Amino acid sequence: MKIKQFLVIAAFAFVAVWGMQSCQHEQMGDPNAAICFERDILPIFNSKCAMSGCHDAGTAAEDYDLSNYSKIVGDGIVKGKPGKSEIYEEIEDGEMPPKGYPKLSATEKQLIYDWIADGAKNGINCAVKCDSTISGFASAVQPIMTKYCVGCHAYPSASAQVDLSGYIGVKYAINQGLLKSIDHSGYYPMPKGGAKLSDCEINQVRKWIQRGAPND
Ligand code: HEC
Repeated sequence: MKIKQFLVIAAFAFVAVWGMQSCQHEQMGDPNAAICFERDILPIFNSKCAMSGCHDAGTAAEDYDLSNYSKIVGDGIVKGKPGKSEIYEEIEDGEMPPKGYPKLSATEKQLIYDWIADGAKNGINCAVKCDSTISGFASAVQPIMTKYCVGCHAYPSASAQVDLSGYIGVKYAINQGLLKSIDHSGYYPMPKGGAKLSDCEINQVRKWIQRGAPND
């Protein structure tokens, strides 16, 4: 009998804890959701909008500070309604980013559309989607550069003369402090204004360099 009582209590405790957690997920946005703000959306804003002189906290051009969740959502997002969200309209018709800066890709626009349509939740501590055994240039390194860096590091507006939009530039950037900038062991910590990359992503870049930085 005692074992049975124990099992019943254990089952209740399990359900209670599990229930509390899913409740928190609901408020914050699910870290395992298909689209998670911190992992999928914030890097786009950081790289393509919140650079210095544009929509970083310090400049906030035209009163738009697009450097963090509350500002992004407060300044031009109507939750659940991409078509009524000023920020989405600007990027959808290509007004922003302005001439000379890399535009958002179709995939990035779609991600932002879907995120707003789904309620523009503040997903944090998102599960990392990354396979540390992959270190190909095309399969791992360039996608990382495109996601986190290219908004600030592509000609004609390449910060610090570092162009990360293609193989030649990324390979050259190894001598410009590429690895130390992303593992924060020297040089300027990158991505500027954004969170440090996951260990898995940093290792993918490290392995690629260790393999001789091939164009694979
Ligand atoms: C928001 C804009 C922005 C983003 C995003 C960004 N950078 Fe930078 N980066 C800069 C600026 C500006 C500098 C010049 C140094 C400074 O002002 O911090 C710089 C400098 C660098 C340098 C030269 C460091 C040195 O000491 O000379 C490297 C390498 C670099 N970035 C790599 C990256 C990589 C890799 C990423 C993506 C993981 C990235 N950056 C993302 C703006 C950015």
